Amino acid sequence: MLQDQITQYTEEINAFSTSNAAELEQFRIRFLGTKGIIKDIFDEFKAVSPEEKRTLGKVLNQFKQLAEAKYQTLNDTISASQDTADSNQFDLTLPGEGFELGTRHPLAIVRREIIEIFNKLGFSVAEGPEIEDDWHNFSALNFPEEHPARDMQDTFFIKKGGEKGDIALRTHTSSVQVRMMEAGQPPFRALMPGRVYRNEAISARAHCFFHQVEGLYVDEKVSFADLKQTLFYFVQELYGEGTKVRFRPSYFPFTEPSAEMDISCSICKGAGCQMCKGSGWVEILGCGMVDPNVLENCGIDSKKYSGFAFGMGIERIANLKFEIKDLRLFSENDVRFLKQYQSATI
Ligand code: PHE
Repeated sequence: MLQDQITQYTEEINAFSTSNAAELEQFRIRFLGTKGIIKDIFDEFKAVSPEEKRTLGKVLNQFKQLAEAKYQTLNDTISASQDTADSNQFDLTLPGEGFELGTRHPLAIVRREIIEIFNKLGFSVAEGPEIEDDWHNFSALNFPEEHPARDMQDTFFIKKGGEKGDIALRTHTSSVQVRMMEAGQPPFRALMPGRVYRNEAISARAHCFFHQVEGLYVDEKVSFADLKQTLFYFVQELYGEGTKVRFRPSYFPFTEPSAEMDISCSICKGAGCQMCKGSGWVEILGCGMVDPNVLENCGIDSKKYSGFAFGMGIERIANLKFEIKDLRLFSENDVRFLKQYQSATI
């Protein structure tokens, strides 16, 4: 009786196959569940005679193993195919999300370009602190006590008086020239790029900070001719060959003689436009021969050595290239503005 049932169920199990998890679960409940067929058969088995038990016991165990093995195999196949189905949900051939590339700030582009040109002439780069004492920003540079640049109008003072005198935000990077000369002996040939501060109302044409590149060359027998040739070369490299230059006499406390240098307007090529106010010329930098007093203040023998210095505003140079009408754009960090200079060279 029991033997017949087992034979019948064995056939059923052997014939069973599915790739469906729900169907397999049905199979498990039907045969292997706590109220399933195998449980029933084992219950019935308890009632058979001891002689029968001997043969039937073995058959029964084989039958149970068969059901379990069937379930195990089908379950393995189904979960394996489930894993591949899950990973197939991602289309690995789709292009990924791109990273947005950052761009260089227009002022950084111009600063790099200026530095590269002077590098070719053997100028290195020197940096110094933005918070300066009176000595490095003014006194060593030959500013008289009552010079208007020391006035509150122009300088952001942090601390008045004290052992080292006033402490202020540097108004130019000439302070780095002083630090360099104090620290060593000529020859010096270096550029001083950096941010400087002046107490001005913020408008399209003025800001309370801007960026400079100053330069210093001190050695034996440095002349005004060297100054002119160096700056002439710089301008040809920066704005292209054929750019004209002119020097106008000027005044700075730390240079004597002093000059301002104009170039033929890079925008209208000298014909006259809004940028050059119709004159065909634009001023780009101040320069001069380092005043002997400054050399002496820094511990350099002014009878043996002479030198020239120059200073320019990076914003001004960038304006002449990119025709940016409002200085404030440089510091507002509007990416729509900044992105325009992605591939710019001056
Ligand atoms: N330090 C001057 C300024 O900030 C620029 C300058 C530097 C002029 C060197 C002459 C020589 O205006």
